[in-house]
Amino acid sequence: MRALDARITAHPDRFRVLTGERPTGRLHLGHYFGTVAERVTLQARGVETFLVLADYQVITDRDTTDNVAINVHEAVLDYLAAGLAPASTTIFTHSSVPALNQLLLPFLSLVSEAELHRNPTVKAELAASGRALSGLMLTYPVHQAADILFCKGNLVPVGKDNLPHVELTRTIARRFNDRYGDVFPEPEPLVTASPEVPGVDGRKMSKSYGNAIALSMTNDETAAVIRRTPTDGDRHITFDPVGRPGIAALLTTAALCASTTPELIAEQIGSKGAAELKRVATDTINDYFAAHRRRRAELARDRSAVIDVLQAGVERANTIAETTLDEVRSAMGMHYTLM
Ligand code: TRP
Repeated sequence: MRALDARITAHPDRFRVLTGERPTGRLHLGHYFGTVAERVTLQARGVETFLVLADYQVITDRDTTDNVAINVHEAVLDYLAAGLAPASTTIFTHSSVPALNQLLLPFLSLVSEAELHRNPTVKAELAASGRALSGLMLTYPVHQAADILFCKGNLVPVGKDNLPHVELTRTIARRFNDRYGDVFPEPEPLVTASPEVPGVDGRKMSKSYGNAIALSMTNDETAAVIRRTPTDGDRHITFDPVGRPGIAALLTTAALCASTTPELIAEQIGSKGAAELKRVATDTINDYFAAHRRRRAELARDRSAVIDVLQAGVERANTIAETTLDEVRSAMGMHYTLM
């Protein structure tokens, strides 16, 4: 891991990051500390990034694409407000890049059904969805390999629970190259040390749990979510994630925003009770995101700015995807137009 870090520092231009998000809702603090901040850091280190808004992945665990257009638009606002620059980050949606999606077909031939069923991430997501396994849910990791390989991404920032996806992408790249000749790099996972941000109830932050603080919230909306945090009658504030999950969640989040530790904040609040903790957490979070929210509001005034960024991203992604698909078809002996 440290060796990879050193290689990135020495030659940032040798790396291309592919990463992404499903546009299922507003980006929240979990996204920010989990992935967005890391992308900004990579950009500052000089690494080019491709960022897919995985709209086709929205329907892996639900029947509707409700709000997908607005979610895409809002996500781009957050990326730009967070400091991602369109000059070094190509932002695009799955559904706008046909050649990327076509890679799915040859890639599917390179994996067995048993391998797909073994993927622990898919198993966990299937269980959480409470639904029958759809063909898309089973195969989306192969689609994700197409996301990464269409632009020959060789660095994929992931949390630990997504490592199996990168491993599968490496397998697909290797098998393709073995069978048809060298086309793809074997991407490396960049395991991010980013902390998991708990929602205000102590569970993982997720829009579907109603425990998320969105980056786009106003100060008052943030306060309202924090007010809902379940606390207890003990006025003495301690950091106890198991026994006092709501209190621990607020301490953790406030500590992230104040670059300190949850224990230290607990100590400072002492016996002033949960109301004081909520006030401190609200202020700390709102202060930390004040500049982001200001930039976001400014950007939001001009819809065309976001549209321009997406259009440029989609165009660039299409150019690259078409080139890669050409190479793939040539390697596979399917380039009939050249004969
Ligand atoms: N599955 C990711 C998520 O749920 C989004 C994603 C799509 C992605 N394609 C990817 C992440 C490729 C990394 C690499 O947010």
